[in-house]
Amino acid sequence: MSVSTKKILIVHAQPEPDSLTAQFAAAARQTLEAQGHRVLSSDLYGMGWKAVFDAQDFPDRADAGRLSFIAESGHAFAAGTQTADVEAEQRKLLAADAVILLFPLWWFGPPAILKGWIDRVYAYGFAYGFEGQGNRLRYGDGLLKGKRALLSVMVGGPAADYGPRGINGPLDQLLFPLTHGCLFYPGMDVLPTHAVYGTGRIGAEAVKAELAAWRQRLVGLFDEAPIPFRRQNGGDYPDRHRLADALAPGREGLMVHVDTGL
Ligand SMILES: Cc1cc2nc3c(=O)[nH]c(=O)nc-3n(C[C@H](O)[C@H](O)[C@H](O)COP(=O)(O)O)c2cc1C
Repeated sequence: MSVSTKKILIVHAQPEPDSLTAQFAAAARQTLEAQGHRVLSSDLYGMGWKAVFDAQDFPDRADAGRLSFIAESGHAFAAGTQTADVEAEQRKLLAADAVILLFPLWWFGPPAILKGWIDRVYAYGFAYGFEGQGNRLRYGDGLLKGKRALLSVMVGGPAADYGPRGINGPLDQLLFPLTHGCLFYPGMDVLPTHAVYGTGRIGAEAVKAELAAWRQRLVGLFDEAPIPFRRQNGGDYPDRHRLADALAPGREGLMVHVDTGL
């Protein structure tokens, strides 16, 4: 094993082995293993992952009355009474140096099974409410700090639909709840999303070229600069809620939370 051996968790959400998503997941595994890394994987459909977060997630309730997901999640995490499938995914996340989530864009977001993986695995005390400090350790700080994260997304529509003035809206903004909200929130460094556009009409040659580009992209997984999301505790949010007036003057919306130096 080389000294630079890392562990990478590959999570993918498409049941069809011939799908682009599954092909990209297989290519990622092969490329990273060939580089000497260790790959952990979560094939969500293949595992029969339970997508919905519900009362079955709390076999040992702290309060049998009105179900509070946050309170029961915190209780189950702290008491060690989470379900085995959730615990196993948390262990994989903790072991990983990088996490790659691969999925087809379904209605402008991830398939429900992947959203359900986040809902259930991201327990209180694990992905939020870290160290019992409420919202103090989030957006750049948290249990998953120091890990890298990358989305690999298959997009049916053409790139023009997702460009800066594209009719569907820019892809980086559509996926902001995942990159900023779900990956940066618990502390991970998030790389720019790897998107394949026009998958609805893609031919065999183009697939080959896209797979080659993906393999190439993965070579830089641990060297590439992450998206410069502003850290909550880096001074840009004096009250930990609102961006300082002096920063991104005259601008508002999601992208003010990316530090472009403007
Ligand atoms: C339920 C569903 C919703 C979809 N929503 C979108 C969408 O919002 N935008 C888009 O460009 N393509 C959309 N598509 C097309 C998929 O993105 C396309 O089938 C996928 O990228 C192909 O990759 P795959 O072979 O890995 O499934 C959707 C497809 C399905 C089945």
